[in-house]
Amino acid sequence: MSVDLIDTAAQAASRAYAPYSHFHVGAAVRAASGAVFSGCNIENAAYPQGWCAEPSALSAMIMAGETKLAEVCVWADSARPCTPCGGCRQKLAEFGTADTVVISAGPDGERARWTLGELLPEAFSLEDEV
Ligand code: THU
Repeated sequence: MSVDLIDTAAQAASRAYAPYSHFHVGAAVRAASGAVFSGCNIENAAYPQGWCAEPSALSAMIMAGETKLAEVCVWADSARPCTPCGGCRQKLAEFGTADTVVISAGPDGERARWTLGELLPEAFSLEDEV
């Protein structure tokens, strides 16, 4: 895991719009080409309408024309490592493989490391997916 991915995720967290939870999250994804994309969580006064940092980063990746995930970093200034929520695990699984590495990082650097397969065993996929 390169330090640049952690730095990019940390910068993204500084853009988080989280006036309700005050939990600022940044995500950075490296696509197969090596390009890095990032995003933050964006909350809403209608609470369920808010969304996580991971789909924000995935949106940037898709808009750049990339569909394959090489590695992922989730960054939060929290006491415990911020693990991707259940829905985000499924979203990441759409573009990664069971071996894709996901790390959680904070101000002190990398804190936890998993593969997508560990985070979401038996991820849902359509039988006829391309
Ligand atoms: N959050 C993320 O951005 N990613 C996760 O994987 C976990 C949770 C955000 C959503 C919400 O804005 C805040 O953290 C508190 O749940």
